[in-house]
Amino acid sequence: MKKTILITGGIGYIGSHGVVAFEQAGYKTVIVDNLSNSNVDILVGIEKILGYKPDFFETDLRTVKGELLNEKGINKINYIDGKKIKGFYSLEEIFQKYNFDGVIHFAGLKSVGESCQKALAYFDNNIVGSLKLFEMMEKFKVKNIIFSSSATVYNMDNRQDSLKIGLKEDELIGNTTNPYGTTKFLLENILKDLAKFSGFRVINLRYFNPIGAHNSGYIGENPSGIPNNLLPYIMKVATGELEELKVFGNDYDTLDGTGVRDYIDVIDLIDGHLKAYSNLESGFNERSVSGKFETYNLGTGKGVSVLEMIEANKKVIGKDIPYKVIGRREGDLASVFCNPEKAEKELGWKTKISLEESLRNSWRFYNN
Ligand code: NAD
Ligand code: WQD
Repeated sequence: MKKTILITGGIGYIGSHGVVAFEQAGYKTVIVDNLSNSNVDILVGIEKILGYKPDFFETDLRTVKGELLNEKGINKINYIDGKKIKGFYSLEEIFQKYNFDGVIHFAGLKSVGESCQKALAYFDNNIVGSLKLFEMMEKFKVKNIIFSSSATVYNMDNRQDSLKIGLKEDELIGNTTNPYGTTKFLLENILKDLAKFSGFRVINLRYFNPIGAHNSGYIGENPSGIPNNLLPYIMKVATGELEELKVFGNDYDTLDGTGVRDYIDVIDLIDGHLKAYSNLESGFNERSVSGKFETYNLGTGKGVSVLEMIEANKKVIGKDIPYKVIGRREGDLASVFCNPEKAEKELGWKTKISLEESLRNSWRFYNN
């Protein structure tokens, strides 16, 4: 029988690729998403790839009791066995309905800038939402969880010199510079304790800079409004939606003076989740065994500068990407990339997709 996995945030950018990959790997997935940063149309994209709709519930992780309408005052939509069902399912009812083997927890708000304006909303959504999820996991004895953490948890105070080599998992974390990062730091610590004291089996994945899209062009990243992140911004310049890219500083101590990051393709990233989940299963089959908490970086281990990114896009898209260098963005670091050896050694995971292929897939999605 297929194992059933709960995918929170499964309509979002990374989660939707997770749903496709886990379904294709033979799992049954069940999506819970409140659609606060995504559109249910993505479910149609997922259906086009898979040939069927996975079960989906328009449910906020924090709502335990029935609320029939969503934030826009519209009846909530769910899909069960391919059928559209209006109404509300609480997280508890969803846990009751399925016998989950584990959870892939993508749901959360993720904008660094917005989190500084709305710190409490970020703590409420990300921390309270996750606590409700963990409570249900405990109640229904679901112990396996993969958590979406971020490179942003690394303590970067006085770190510029050492960033000539990639960040390793055992380096100092904390001293986060924004509430979003604080939610990831706190949740890592909460999960560590749940592993120690409640038998949770946790694989904590620290993503570097996810980019790219499914090669069908049906799912990908398309933030509404003006994007904060580099690649979606470049895409919108290429489509003509935005006039030019503002390059945040060219006076860093890097090869060409612009910021260097570790851009990882979303398909490679999700492959890391598949490998992590099978590692959880194979090493920890017995539901009674004690907990586990393990952290892995998911990145390529290679740094790419903003100017290199512009050039690579130019080549793939075949269009000029107009840009202007302006001052540094507050809080930015010169160079951030990881050392991915631990995931390679312990999970047998390695990135495969080139930057060019990744950009081609993003561009296909933007043109769809
Ligand atoms: P996303 O915003 O596209 O997806 C997150 C999904 O979660 C959205 O569909 C949103 O509607 C849903 N959601 C948010 N709060 C919810 C709640 N309370 N209840 C139910 N659903 C809720 O983001 P993404 O880029 O796919 O990121 C997925 C995860 O990976 C997030 O936890 C994010 O912090 C983490 N992450 C992302 C990046 C990145 O650059 N994209 C980098 C590091 C870590
Ligand atoms: C990349 C590079 C910018 C936009 C953020 C979060 C991090 C993680 C991933 C969630 C930098 C430069 C950017 C632009 C530019 N998210 N840039 N002009 O800052 O590495 O990471 O997203 O966990 O937590 O902080 O990514 O894409 O914003 O920037 O010049 O319009 O591009 O200065 O060097 P960042 P980014």
